[in-house]
Amino acid sequence: MSKSLENKLALVTGSSRGIGAAVAARLARNGASVIVNYASSADRADAVVREIRSAGGEAEAIGADLAGMDGVRTLIASIDTAFGGRFGGQLDILVNNAGTVDYGPFLEQPDDSYDKHFNVNVRAPIALAKEAGKRMAKAGWGRIINVGSAFGEAAPLGGVTLYIATKFALHGFTRGLSRELGPLGITVNGVQPGPIDTDLSPNEGTDAHATMVKLTSVGRFGKVDEIAAAVAYLASQEASFTNGENLTVDGGWNA
Ligand SMILES: NC(=O)c1ccc[n+]([C@@H]2O[C@H](COP(=O)([O-])OP(=O)(O)OC[C@H]3O[C@@H](n4cnc5c(N)ncnc54)[C@H](OP(=O)(O)O)[C@@H]3O)[C@@H](O)[C@H]2O)c1
Repeated sequence: MSKSLENKLALVTGSSRGIGAAVAARLARNGASVIVNYASSADRADAVVREIRSAGGEAEAIGADLAGMDGVRTLIASIDTAFGGRFGGQLDILVNNAGTVDYGPFLEQPDDSYDKHFNVNVRAPIALAKEAGKRMAKAGWGRIINVGSAFGEAAPLGGVTLYIATKFALHGFTRGLSRELGPLGITVNGVQPGPIDTDLSPNEGTDAHATMVKLTSVGRFGKVDEIAAAVAYLASQEASFTNGENLTVDGGWNA
């Protein structure tokens, strides 16, 4: 197993379950010390940390609700204190993974849904990337990876319009920021999953699930490890010439 991320601190937002949990485990396996962030699932975050530690890796759980700027600030403060302050405030890898969606017709969305979608899916990644970028610039090395969606470049279904708007925004942010941070030794890329088997996606057996399977060409939902592998690549030394890319991993959904 490659330990190429040894002595690197990684922060993975929304890593108490789903894709984020798989990303945290994968980066830890590659040697990174990982901050596992969650909003409310403290038990599940602790389980992710235990699993990483039992596999010989290093992880700590930090609760911070990224819907509010207070939560963003809490998470930023944890960069300084994580692992006994051993990293001296340096952050090497930021994975903006936490995301939220309210399914349903746009015309029935409550007004507070706008802020909910944009604060978690766009504002928090932007605020964390700014903080991470400053710290990474000092070291002259860094990796920022934004977990977007196949809905960040196409809209093959209705009922997720606000979510689509946020993922297009994140896609654009990734491209713009890569221009600014590339000269500083920091790459900024996105991973755009298609339908992945997690709490966020409709359960097997429903009509929505069957429709989404049909939109892929491989005829199935993806697995969290298939997204974690793409994130691990973009976080690696080997990805040093990949910048401003939004890597779509969607079983052919957007082909
Ligand atoms: N699953 C898919 O089919 C799919 C497809 C395309 C893109 N994506 C994207 O992939 C990312 C992860 O999705 P997932 O399917 O793994 O979701 P998930 O299983 O629902 O997990 C969501 C994670 O995000 C955290 N989270 C949610 N709201 C948060 C907040 N306000 N502050 C901090 N953390 C918060 C959750 O923490 P708690 O456990 O504490 O609630 C949890 O760890 C999202 O950005 C999503 O848009 C998913």
